[in-house]
Amino acid sequence: MLVNASEMLKKAKAGHYAVGQFNINNLEWTKAILLTAQELNSPVILGVSEGAGKYMTGFETVAAMVKAMDESLGITVPVALHLDHGSYDGCYKCIKAGFTSIMFDGSHYPIEENVAKTSELVAVAHQLGLSIEAEVGSIGGEEDGVVGAGECADPDECKAVADLGVDMLAAGIGNIHGKYPENWAGLSFDTLDAIQQKTGVMPLVLHGGTGIPAEMIKKAIDLGVSKINVNTECQLAFQEATRAYIEAGKDQQGKGFDPRKLLAPGFEAIKATVKEKMELFGSIGKA
Ligand code: 13P
Repeated sequence: MLVNASEMLKKAKAGHYAVGQFNINNLEWTKAILLTAQELNSPVILGVSEGAGKYMTGFETVAAMVKAMDESLGITVPVALHLDHGSYDGCYKCIKAGFTSIMFDGSHYPIEENVAKTSELVAVAHQLGLSIEAEVGSIGGEEDGVVGAGECADPDECKAVADLGVDMLAAGIGNIHGKYPENWAGLSFDTLDAIQQKTGVMPLVLHGGTGIPAEMIKKAIDLGVSKINVNTECQLAFQEATRAYIEAGKDQQGKGFDPRKLLAPGFEAIKATVKEKMELFGSIGKA
C-alpha cells in the first residue's frame, strides 16, 4: 500500500524502532524489497537516488513500476516511494511523477538557503500529501555522484530545519555512504544526543546504514533514529551471490543463462539482507 512516510515514522519514533529505507535499482530490487516487507509485516521505504532514477529511464517509469508492482503483488504493508538526496529540481520532478515522499538535500547550501528552499518544498509537499526529509551536516563519502565531506551537524541548525515542519531529518553524525574505512571513528553519539534533545519528537534519519555495527545501530535507535538508509549492502549481497553462481559455472548448465535464473541468487541475497536489517531495526510486525 503506497503511502507517505509520515505516519510510519511517527509510529517508529514512539515505538523505539526504525523503518528501513532500501534503495532500488531495477525490477529485481523492488520486487525483493516489497516481498520481504510483506512477508515480515514491516513498513518499508523504497529509496530512489537521482542517478538510479535516471538509470531506470526517469522518475515516471519508477513511480509507474512501483505503483503497479505494489498492486499486482497485493502488498498491504505501508510502502513509501521516496526520493533520496534530491536536488531542488529533482524534488519537483518526483512530486510530479507521483512519488509519495521526497528528500531535499540542501546540506551543501549555506544554512539560510537550505532553510529557504526546504521551507518552500515543505509547503508544496504537504499540500499534495507527500512527506519530506531535510538534511543538515553532510553525510560523508559518495553516493551516485553526491559527495559529502561528512561533517557533524550543528544541533541548533537541526532545530531550525526541524521547525520548518519536515517529517524527518537527516543529520550528519560521522556516518558515511558506502563501506566504512578501517580507521572510521564511529558515530558521534554526543552529536546525536544533542540533536535529539533540540528536535524532540522529530524522527531522525541515519544514512550510510551499510556496515554500521549492530550495537551502534541499536544505540542510534535509542537516541531517536527512526529511519535507517541501506544501499551498498544490498548491492554487495547481490554481487557476491551472482559471482558465486557464475563461478560455479551454473550459467552454463542447462538453461542457467536464462536471466530469471541468473538473477535469482542475487534476488534471494537482497531478500536475506533486507530481512536481517528489518530484524536489527525492530520493524518486523509493525505494519
Ligand atoms: P549505504 O550505501 O552506505 O548503505 O548508504 C545508503 C544511504 O544512506 C542512502 O541515502
